[in-house]
Amino acid sequence: MTSRKASPAKKNITKSVCFFNNKGGVGKTTLVANLAAELGLNHAKKVLVIDADPQCNLTQYVLSDDEFLDTYSSKDPQSIYSVIHPLSTGKGYKTTLPIKTIDEFGFDVIIGDPRLALKEDLLAQDWRDAKAGGIRGLRTTLVFHNLIEQAQSYDYIFFDMGPSLGAINRAILLAVDFFLVPMSIDIFSSWALKNIGEAVKVWEKDLTFGMKNSEDPNEVPDIERKRLLFLGYVTQQHKERREKAGSTRIVEAYDQISKKLPGVVSQHLSYFYPTSLQTHLGEIKHLASLAPKSQTLHQPMINVKAKGSYTVTRKQARDIYTALALRFMENMDILIKEAAKEKR
Ligand SMILES: Nc1ncnc2c1ncn2[C@@H]1O[C@H](COP(=O)(O)OP(=O)(O)OP(=O)(O)O)[C@@H](O)[C@H]1O
Ligand SMILES: [Mg+2]
Repeated sequence: MTSRKASPAKKNITKSVCFFNNKGGVGKTTLVANLAAELGLNHAKKVLVIDADPQCNLTQYVLSDDEFLDTYSSKDPQSIYSVIHPLSTGKGYKTTLPIKTIDEFGFDVIIGDPRLALKEDLLAQDWRDAKAGGIRGLRTTLVFHNLIEQAQSYDYIFFDMGPSLGAINRAILLAVDFFLVPMSIDIFSSWALKNIGEAVKVWEKDLTFGMKNSEDPNEVPDIERKRLLFLGYVTQQHKERREKAGSTRIVEAYDQISKKLPGVVSQHLSYFYPTSLQTHLGEIKHLASLAPKSQTLHQPMINVKAKGSYTVTRKQARDIYTALALRFMENMDILIKEAAKEKR
């Protein structure tokens, strides 16, 4: 397995971002893969994408059919599972990361693994221990901090996650610098914002308590924890468009919820960003059959190599993702500057 060369010259500051919504099917995986591809292919950014969803949809998207079959036919595929598993056998952190380069998408990946679901229990049990200051619990809970520290040659580390507020996702949300919320415009996505806001605040407090009151302060993993920041939300139209034909009520509901969204975001997430931040990063329109085509070809939507009607939607995808990448980088700069001001 190979990995991309480090970015040149200036000191690299790796930024880690998770894409999270505890509502399923809102387009998280599609956004992670295509935004990472835009940043890698068109903005010369070095991106590592981690498939932390046991469904492995991102891995299936980016690997060719042959490579996918080859990889998962082996007894012990090197994946995100291999990063976490050594902890449960008392072997500590894994020191080499199983990174694959995906040329078509312009980024590196740590592939997903259905066996990751088996680690939910371990992380959940060890979370109780971590809150009480137990060293084993803290080590397990901080596994993604360790992973991020080992991948400091990247500009960005992206996490694709499943739609739950379970133990794996908790450990990721506690490890990353930023979270971004892909949303469909429906009432459940508003609930999701509330859930995320409330859960993360409590978890941050619990982990801080556990680390401060550890049974053995010298053994607490030496990790710098930063305050989690909200980078913004991306709205996606694809669900509503599909439902539109059958019901005008859905379109009205869409408009109503859409208008209320900025207020709902600030109500539930203002703790995680400065009030001056423009939190709506952009809207991804329904890109029709370009989405499934890009999945079958294992190519990002901006680069689908197919003729005909795809030429039009591919151009739309390029415009959408160019604008989104710029807003993404802009918000990140603002948040980093604000955080530096707070430190002074
Ligand atoms: N802009 C788009 N245009 C058309 N279809 C889209 C678009 N974005 C996503 N889709 C389709 O919607 C479906 C769900 O997308 P995706 O798998 O990215 O959601 P998800 O939030 O990651 O789901 P899960 O919660 O299961 O992880 C996929 O079949 C995908 O092809
Ligand atoms: Mg997904």
